This record gives sequence, C-alpha cells and structure tokens, in this order.
Amino acid sequence: MAQQEQWKSKIGFILATAGSAIGLGAIWKFPYVAGTGGGGAFFFLFITFTLVLGMPLLMGEFLIGRKGQTNPIDTYRKLASNPKWGFIGKMGVFTSFILLSFYSVVGGWIILYIVKIVTGGLSVQNDEQYMHLFEDIISNPFSTVIAQFTFMLIAILVVSQGIQKGIEVASKIMMPALLILFIGLVIRSLSLDGAMEGVKFLLVPDFSKLTSESILFALGQSFFTLSLGVSVMVTYASYLPKTQNIPKSAISIILLNTIIALMAGLAIFPGVFAFELEPNAGPVLIFAVLPAVFNHMPFGMVLFLAFLILFLFAALTSAFSMVEIIVASVTKSDATKRKKYTWLTGILIFIVGIPSCLSYGVLSDVKFFNKTVFDLMDFTVSNILMPLGALLIAVFVSRFVSKDVLYSELKQGSNIGNIFFSIWFVLLKYVTPIAIIIVFLDVVGLFKW
Ligand code: PFF
Repeated sequence: MAQQEQWKSKIGFILATAGSAIGLGAIWKFPYVAGTGGGGAFFFLFITFTLVLGMPLLMGEFLIGRKGQTNPIDTYRKLASNPKWGFIGKMGVFTSFILLSFYSVVGGWIILYIVKIVTGGLSVQNDEQYMHLFEDIISNPFSTVIAQFTFMLIAILVVSQGIQKGIEVASKIMMPALLILFIGLVIRSLSLDGAMEGVKFLLVPDFSKLTSESILFALGQSFFTLSLGVSVMVTYASYLPKTQNIPKSAISIILLNTIIALMAGLAIFPGVFAFELEPNAGPVLIFAVLPAVFNHMPFGMVLFLAFLILFLFAALTSAFSMVEIIVASVTKSDATKRKKYTWLTGILIFIVGIPSCLSYGVLSDVKFFNKTVFDLMDFTVSNILMPLGALLIAVFVSRFVSKDVLYSELKQGSNIGNIFFSIWFVLLKYVTPIAIIIVFLDVVGLFKW
C-alpha cells in the first residue's frame, strides 16, 4: 500500500483545512444567500447550524480521517469493516466533482475582474454601474470559459505537485493578509452614510422573513462553508499526525471561517444600503457592491486588486481540496499516478462546468425546475448532496464506528474529558441527523407554517 503523506507542521494542517473552508462560501455565497434568505434571521440560523451541527461533524470527519490514514473511500470500508460503506466516500467524490464544475466558474469571474482592473477597464462613473458592468463581463461566453479554464489550470498545476508543498507555505502569508484587508474594508463600509441600515439588516433577526427554503439554504450554507458532508475533511485529516489536537483544530477553523463570513457581510451590506442596491441581487451581489465600496477609498482600485488576488487565493485553496479528494480516491494515494489523474480530473471538471459558465450568457434561458444550469448545480450540491452527505457521515461515525475507537482517537493529542466527549457524541448521533431530516421534510412541505 502507498505510504500516506503527512502535513509538515501542525499549523500546516490548520491552514490547509481553513483554506478549504474559507473560500467563495464565506465571501461570495454567504452575503448573497443571507441577502435573499432574510438577513439577520438567516445569519442567526447559519451560526446555530454551524455550532450545533457543523462543529460535531467537522470533528467527526477529522477523527475518522486520522484514524483511517487512507483515501476517503477506503476509510469508510476500513472503519466499518464492511466494503459497502465505501459509497459515502464515492458520494463525496461525486459531490466534489459537480461542486467544482460551477465553483470554477465563479473563480473565473474573479480572474476576469483582476484582468479588468489591470487593463484599466473598471473605472466607471457611478456606483450603480458596477452591476451592469459585471453582468456584461459574465455574459461573454469566450472570456468566461477561458477564465474558468485558467482557474482549473492553476488548481491542476498545484494539486499535481502534491498539495502539501504549495499550500502550507502560501497560506501562511495569504490568510493573514486577507484578514487584514477585510478589517480595513469593514471599517470603510461601516463609515459609509447609511451603513447602520446594512448592519441591522445582517444582524437583527426578523424571523417572520424565514421560509422553509431559506432554512434549507442556511443549513446548506453552514456545511458548504465548512466543506462538510463531502469527506474532504476526512481526506485532509488522513495526512494528520496523531499529535494534533482535533477539538482545538476544529474550533480554530470554525472561528476563522465565521469571522470571515461575518466580515464579508459587514463589508457588503452597509454598501448595499448606502448605494441603494438590492440585498437580494443574488450571485452578482459582491461583485457589484465591493468595487463601489473600494471606489470610495483612497487607492481604491489598488486595494481592490489586492483584495481580488487574496480572494482568488482563498477560492483556489478550496478548489485544491475538491481536486485532492478525487485524486486521492482514484490514485489510492499512489504518488506515481498523481499527475496523470489530476490532469484528467481537472479537464473533465472544466468540461462539465461549461454549461454552468454559459448560463449567465447564451444559456440563460435554459432552465430546469425553473433554475439555470448554474443554479441547479449549486442547489443540488449545496442543499441536497452536502446535507445528505453530512447526514450519512453523522450516522456512520456515531453508529458504525466503535465508541471506544472514537474516544481513544479523540484523546490523542488532546486532553478532553468524558463530558465533552459525551456532548459531542449526542450531538452527532441524535441532533445532527434529526435536524437535517426535519429541514428536508420541511422543504417538501410536511410541516405547514
Ligand atoms: N468551503 C468552501 C467554500 O466555502 O468556498 C467550499 C467547499 C470546498 C465545499 C470543499 C466543499 C468542499 F468539499
């Protein structure tokens, strides 16, 4: 059997998993789903789901990953001593594949914006024009497909080298830089005229705005931002030495990710209200609002460029994790096959993603269930496959892996006590599956409210 690689340092693992978590989910998706899903009430639910369901699941994925020390498909087989459980890993591979096919489209949008700034094409007269400018950019079939391809190419080149090399070093610089830039951005946003309207919109819950669908979106969003239910965290934890403190790592990642999502919200919504834009503008929201906020700062375009580069980096480190789970599964961690299969995977994902890419332009009228191809892919992955994967993983870990194995694995590298373990176990065994099932049943209309 191929020798499993290991992270070079403790912080390397945190950075890579935080890199997988922090990406388009917190920065691009969170503001727009919060904007369409009810503002403060959505945010409240998102935080609750993150803490009550996301946290135990993340620890669960870390635990079985480190215990298994192999690719995600074999991890499930090994820990349950039954080959049929490998399907959870296979489902994760499939979900990652579809996810990256539309994720790379948005990654391409960031690249296009970077090119626009560098070539001087982003100077407009008034703040509302950014919306139209952006819609123009993403409706061009040629440049968007090329940009999507470029995004995938970078992911292929890095992952084919083995993720440890690139990610650990780069993340140590980029992640703090992203945080610092976000702090500056939030300060600027909060000092815009009318900023408080935006803060209220994001933070003050009005539960009457919630619908069954927005509850599902909040659930999906909390899994999406933490890369849960896909076995990506299982894969990353398989490279983990036994000395790593799992609860502490999980808490750090959740904290970092939530702070970034909160800052994204605080950077965007004051701008939305100050410039009289619509909070429910959808996927275009951040691309229309942020340039306007930066425009109102000294050296605005230079800072916007720096922001976009860091944003692209954040999206790429998430993309690496999606490619990694697929490559780790098909090569069974055999390093000699890595290059070939990374290329194959990357190119296939790019091809499957083309219709999503075109659905903001030439394919905008092609709809299934009243959704464009892009929206359909996103909905299927974020609101069906990821929560379903999370449900299966919660059931698997809490019911099919021996409790003693879990306890002794969790104890390695941490000194958590019995009580913490029991709370974690109950959350995973009962609360997580029941909550996910209730949200699903609610969406299909079982509970009228
Ligand atoms: N967590 C990533 C983000 O928020 O952008 C998205 C993601 C990465 C989801 C990897 C799932 C995954 F397996």
